[in-house]
Amino acid sequence: MKKTTAKAKTSPVENEAPDAIKFLEAQHREVEDLFKKMEDLSDRAHRSRGVIFEEIAHKLSHHAKIEELIFYPEGKEVDKDLTLEAYEEHDVVKQMIAKIKRTETSDETYMAKVTVLKEVVEHHVKEEEEEYFPKTRKEFGDEHLKELGAKLKAKFDKLEAKQA
Ligand SMILES: [Fe+2]
Ligand SMILES: [Fe+2]
Repeated sequence: MKKTTAKAKTSPVENEAPDAIKFLEAQHREVEDLFKKMEDLSDRAHRSRGVIFEEIAHKLSHHAKIEELIFYPEGKEVDKDLTLEAYEEHDVVKQMIAKIKRTETSDETYMAKVTVLKEVVEHHVKEEEEEYFPKTRKEFGDEHLKELGAKLKAKFDKLEAKQA
């Protein structure tokens, strides 16, 4: 039997494993704050607009990626339809992001596009938080949610580190 040595590297990530759903929901709040920040800008703050959008785009894409890689495959066992819908909604979000990236921040349609993206994200988040997550929480249980939380966090940190 292989015995792990006392000093075996316990990743700090595992020690403070967050609940998977709380972890994902906290990211939803961060993105909402960024959208709000963007809406509060003056109409002429084109540069700041672009900077905040970059942050929204990268947060959303990393968030979507960890959900797709780690949470959804297991969620699919709990509710297949909701999971398949969620993947499709992510796809719409990605298309909107790509479209906004191709648009000049000074373009008169820029904020309209951002607003539509925000609405799609809001709809998706609402479905996750009001239907999908409560359902999966019940099925997964606290312990497993911590395991998933550790995986989500580790993958997210890795993606963020790559970006930097
Ligand atoms: Fe999602
Ligand atoms: Fe989400």
